[in-house]
Amino acid sequence: MPQTEPFLVPGDDATLASILAAAWSLLERAAGRAPEDWRWPVLASVDSRDPERGAADARVVVLRRADARDWTLEVHGDARSHKLAQLRAAPRACLVFHDRTRELQLRAWADASVHVGDATARRAWDALHAASRRAYLAPRTPGEPTAQPDANQPPGLEGRLPGVAESEPGFASFAAIVLRVHALEWLRLDRAGHHRARFDADPAGGAPAMRWVRP
Ligand SMILES: Cc1cc2nc3c(=O)[nH]c(=O)nc-3n(C[C@H](O)[C@H](O)[C@H](O)COP(=O)(O)O)c2cc1C
Repeated sequence: MPQTEPFLVPGDDATLASILAAAWSLLERAAGRAPEDWRWPVLASVDSRDPERGAADARVVVLRRADARDWTLEVHGDARSHKLAQLRAAPRACLVFHDRTRELQLRAWADASVHVGDATARRAWDALHAASRRAYLAPRTPGEPTAQPDANQPPGLEGRLPGVAESEPGFASFAAIVLRVHALEWLRLDRAGHHRARFDADPAGGAPAMRWVRP
């Protein structure tokens, strides 16, 4: 696979700029319909429930949107979930993308903004399929302990998808998480030598800082 995608094989003429462009191109592709590994990143956040110790937390999410123009990513979650409580309390996140075939890892550090019930949430919700909307009709708070196994499915919707009107109450529990990326790190494994590069956004909106890092 890498042979057919020359930009993924940094050689003598590979520039940091082309790697950065490749990273965003793959992110945009993964957020689309193509079944790319990068569609399922791990989202890490800070769990500050215990202010003495703090803790790391992480889980798999679906990458819903990527925009190279303003370095933003978007994922979705239940507004009642732990991850949303964590991101509200500490609006910083790290996303880890792993592409097994291309032997590529990308880490993205970002500031997170949570959108519930606003125009951003509405735009994202309106584009969701019934299968995705269904999750937000869960009657009970996700993460709650339960004595019996409980799939937390909406009554009357077991085994079928909701219609558009039927799914609408789910909007109240729907959160769009917009991640404004401020740094990226690319790592490509290669028997001939690994390549690692770091990209930092310019807070003033200028060109990003790009540098090689020893793997
Ligand atoms: C393949 C896969 C995709 C997932 N996508 C999402 C997602 O897009 N949003 C989400 O909130 N949870 C998603 N989950 C579930 C999360 O990994 C996690 O279990 C759940 O959101 C609870 O996390 P929390 O308690 O940290 O909030 C996904 C799980 C898997 C296995």
